[in-house]
Amino acid sequence: MPDILPDMAIQWQQFEKIWLNLIQRYGYQECRFPTMEETALFKRSIGDVTDIVEKEMFTFEEKGKGGKSISLRPEGTASCVRLCLEHGLLHNQQQRLWYMGPMYRHENPQKGRYRQFHQIGVEAFGYPGPDIDVELILLTKRLWEALGIKETVRLEINSLGSSEARQAYRLKLVEYFNQHLEVLDEDSKNRLEKNPLRILDSKNPAMQSVIADAPSLLESIDEESKNHFEAFKQALTDNGVEFVVNPRLVRGLDYYNRTVFEWVTEELGAQGAICAGGRYDGLVDMLGGKSTPSVGFAMGIERILLLQQLKGMTAEYDVDGYLVTVGEKAHIEGICLAEQIRSNCPNFKLIMHANSGSDSFKSQFKKADKSGAKLALILGETEVEAKAVGLKFLREDKAQVTKTWHELPAFLNEWQQNQEEN
Ligand code: HAM
Repeated sequence: MPDILPDMAIQWQQFEKIWLNLIQRYGYQECRFPTMEETALFKRSIGDVTDIVEKEMFTFEEKGKGGKSISLRPEGTASCVRLCLEHGLLHNQQQRLWYMGPMYRHENPQKGRYRQFHQIGVEAFGYPGPDIDVELILLTKRLWEALGIKETVRLEINSLGSSEARQAYRLKLVEYFNQHLEVLDEDSKNRLEKNPLRILDSKNPAMQSVIADAPSLLESIDEESKNHFEAFKQALTDNGVEFVVNPRLVRGLDYYNRTVFEWVTEELGAQGAICAGGRYDGLVDMLGGKSTPSVGFAMGIERILLLQQLKGMTAEYDVDGYLVTVGEKAHIEGICLAEQIRSNCPNFKLIMHANSGSDSFKSQFKKADKSGAKLALILGETEVEAKAVGLKFLREDKAQVTKTWHELPAFLNEWQQNQEEN
């Protein structure tokens, strides 16, 4: 469960800003739900025989008699559906929602895989057509462009068909793999009866040729799902989105049907999926609501930021001014002046040197420089007498100037505007 230090937090903030702007432009609304729920919710939604539920949940018993089993959320879709049902958000209504926050999975940590990680999830309820599937892809593509990682990610898609078609396919698959038992590893043998589709996901090199010859899911899906998939692919092409159909993409959560997709990169080793999702038309019904077509995805923020770092993209705190003072009187005046600047120059980022009674002028300047500030504002006894302030340009080749307190806000606002324009 990694800490996020200040020099990383700035990259998170930059990412969140870009995200917020983008998702509002598509008309989605945010919802927030607790980091834990009853374990039963996750078991029913994600599926009993999945890695997440079998091995990865942080689960504990609530204290007291009849205490319930509670789990830290391993993902957000189940909680989001629970929230909608509990508050009646799906009564004859469509919803376009998103959420962000930490998720918890007890996996072996490695680069790009953590036990506490952060997802942004998007869920659309009440839209049956492939147009909304496409919208989700288009908004993620726009995000990769804004983040500067578009060139390093690839879209993989598949269709799992209806749950009936999937059931029939499952039987076919069990029959096929039963004829090749000698090639299957222990993990896959365990999955054979419980969740045979997941065998298609195996990375074991010894099993690849058997997997390649397995019956194809796409060929087994129902007519309606085929049409949905064709329309989805056509709309992607119409909008200039490149994609690869990966017939072995089955996803590790049981609630999916029809469209599934993953945005993947080669640059993060085994943790290549940065964003994944699909349709889950049966989940709302299964959790006690009225049958509601649903589709969504979630992206792993840590993986996206890692990808940006690998491409050499970093973010830095942006400081405009640093106020240094000489002597006790100037320091007291300095605090008032700093507040006046904050009132009158709303975009000016100013650090007020604290503790200047004991810090020399030189050491204050060193701190000003280290802070990244572009301007040092200097307040000594003479300046206080004159109700003025000295301005030293720390990053520009310009002579120091003096401005009265009265002139200062207009000067700083204009200076800042020039900085932005250049
Ligand atoms: P998921 O594929 O389990 O789907 O997770 C989505 C994304 O979360 C992954 O593609 C990855 O980027 C990130 N992620 C997952 N596990 C970890 C980890 N241990 N460390 C770092 N990042 C991780 C879901 O969670 C579904 N709820 C997505 C969805 C929403 N489907 C429909 N709606």
